[in-house]
Parts: sequence; C-alpha cells; structure tokens
Amino acid sequence: MSTTEQPTGHAANADIIGRNEIDDIEAILAVTNVDADEVEHAVKDNADAIFTWDYSLLRPQLRKLYEKAKTSQWNGTTDLDWDTSVEIDKVVAADQAALASGLSPDHYAGTIVEKWNDKEWLNFGIDSRRWTLSQFLHGEQGALLCTAKITETVPWYDAKLYAATQVVDEARHVEVFGRYLDEKMGGGFQVNAHLRMLLDDIIEDSRWDMTYLGMQIMVEGLALAAFGYMRQLTDEPLLNNLLKYVMADEARHVAFGVLSLKEVYAEMSDKELLERQEFAFEAAIRMRDRFLQQEVWERHGVNPKDVVPLVLHDPTRKMFQQMLFAKIVPNSKKLGLLDRNNSWLRRRFEEMDVIQFEDLEDTGSEYEQYQLS
Ligand SMILES: [Fe+2]
Ligand SMILES: [Fe+2]
Repeated sequence: MSTTEQPTGHAANADIIGRNEIDDIEAILAVTNVDADEVEHAVKDNADAIFTWDYSLLRPQLRKLYEKAKTSQWNGTTDLDWDTSVEIDKVVAADQAALASGLSPDHYAGTIVEKWNDKEWLNFGIDSRRWTLSQFLHGEQGALLCTAKITETVPWYDAKLYAATQVVDEARHVEVFGRYLDEKMGGGFQVNAHLRMLLDDIIEDSRWDMTYLGMQIMVEGLALAAFGYMRQLTDEPLLNNLLKYVMADEARHVAFGVLSLKEVYAEMSDKELLERQEFAFEAAIRMRDRFLQQEVWERHGVNPKDVVPLVLHDPTRKMFQQMLFAKIVPNSKKLGLLDRNNSWLRRRFEEMDVIQFEDLEDTGSEYEQYQLS
C-alpha cells in the first residue's frame, strides 16, 4: 500500500506511528513485549490536578449521564453466576464451528499452519480466546487509571462527578475479566506491546482532552464493538452475561467522551485539532496492530512473519477488523475529527478501509439501548 501524500505542515506517518506504510509487517512485529515477567509498570502522567469552585449545573447532559450511572451500578460478585461450569475446549469448539477461529484456515496454504488439524486449530483458538480476554482486562485497567486521571484533570464540575462513577465501573470490569480468566480460562497473557504503548501515550499526555480522546473515543469505542462481536459469537452463558453488563457501562463511557469533546473541539483552531486527528490515527493503528495477536502465533510455534502478512488479507479476519471501527468512525465524525484540515483523518480511515461506518449511529445517545432491564 502506498503512503498517502502529506500536505505541508502535516506530520508524516513515520512521525506519528513510527513507520510510513501502515501495513509494514517488519515494523509492526518489531514492537514486542520484552519483559514478560514485568509486574509493575510506571508511567509519568504529566498533568495538574484541577480544583473548580464553580459547583453550578452547567452541563445538563453530563449530569443526566451521572444520574444514570448512579442507578446502573451492578455487583460483579452477585449479579453474575460464577458457579457456571465453563469447559473451554467445548466452548471454543462451538464458537469456531460458528465462525472458524476468526480466520479462514484455507487462506494459509504454504505455511506451517496449512498442516494444522482440527485439534491444533482448537488449541490455537483456546489461546486466542485467552489472549483476547487478557487484552480486554489490561485495557480495562488502562480505563481505570485514565478515568482516575480525568477526575483530577478535567476542569468541569459535572464531568468530575461523572468520571468518578466511571472509576468504579472500570474497577468492576477489571474485577470480572480478571476473575473469568483466572477461574474459567486457566490464566491469561501479558499485555500486548502495541496496547501498552497506546495506554502509555494516553496517560503521559498532559492535555486533559487527550485522555478522553484516547480512552473514551478510541479504546472504549473499539471495546464496545469488540465486546458486542464476542457476545454475538459465544453461547457461553457466563461470558455472554458478563459482556452484557460491561457493555451497558461502556456505552455510557463512550457517550461521556462524545458529549464532552464535542463542546471542546468545536472551539479549537485547525492546528490544535490536527494534533487530535493525528492522535486518533495513532490510536487506531496501535489497536489494529495488536489484533494481529503475534504472541499467540509464537506460543504455537509459528513465526509471525510467515503468517501475519496473510492474516492482514484473510477475508474472515478483515471483516472482524473493520467491524472494530464501527463506533470509532461515526463518533469521530460527530466530533468534527474526520473532515477538518482537508479531511485529514477521513483520508487515513479510507486508507485503513473503515470509512464505510461514518454514517452509523454515534454513541452520544445510543447508551439508552444498552441499559440493563
Ligand atoms: Fe470498562
Ligand atoms: Fe469503560
């Protein structure tokens, strides 16, 4: 794929994502987690904690969301049936029967994978499920830290109140994904290096709206789509229910980002907005890169370099990968990120082949549909 021409004054892809061509496999696979035993990971958060003495109701839509959050709390210990017995191999086999392993096995002719029998595909599928849920878990911890940071850094009273409820929501999400992996999946995977790099970038940025953009719009927008996909795919009742509860919260979180940033971005200069467009692009690429799940291939004796170029063009995979952007693209449009600066982000989403979602419903009000009955 050729590099899109850069108008003057705009950063080149290499400055934003560390490579010029978005499908440069060597560069993507060169980003690996070098410390698999790491337990603690420190990141500078570079921001002031802001008090506000203005306690008046200035943003009714955020206050409405806050009221909704208070009455939508659930308890991961008692609302989910942890006695459900989960036989991983049967669950994954059933899900694979519905949609292979998310991959098209006959697409891998000429590689070591071509000779895999059903059992080997099943084992790969089990680790793929563990890996996916693990990255959900690590992303949830990222959300926990980001919303704690937003509570401190956002200058608006109504937003501080709402963000505080999201901290509790995210604690609950870390709790339930962690417990599911531990009790039902026999453990998980270390954080993927692309995801960690993105979470680091979001936390390190000193500007409060960048935390929202990286987390509420990009990471949570993708999570909402990915959780929805897994929920449609699996009949495992505990996971299905867990995802239903988490999604009800996530839809509110994305709405929080859309409602807050719409106000801020409408006031920004082109130059300021371009920095947001570039950050959105960087986040989109990091999330796409992580879904190539290089660690799972390695664990199954496959050199990712042999297979990942094929994964990028696997039709089953491609459909899944595009669908991940079903929330991000319309929300970016609603925020004015697609078309400012000569449609800079629109061009990037065209290159990524995800622009077709631009007219789907945005998540500013859609959260009502996800409410638990
Ligand atoms: Fe979450
Ligand atoms: Fe969230």
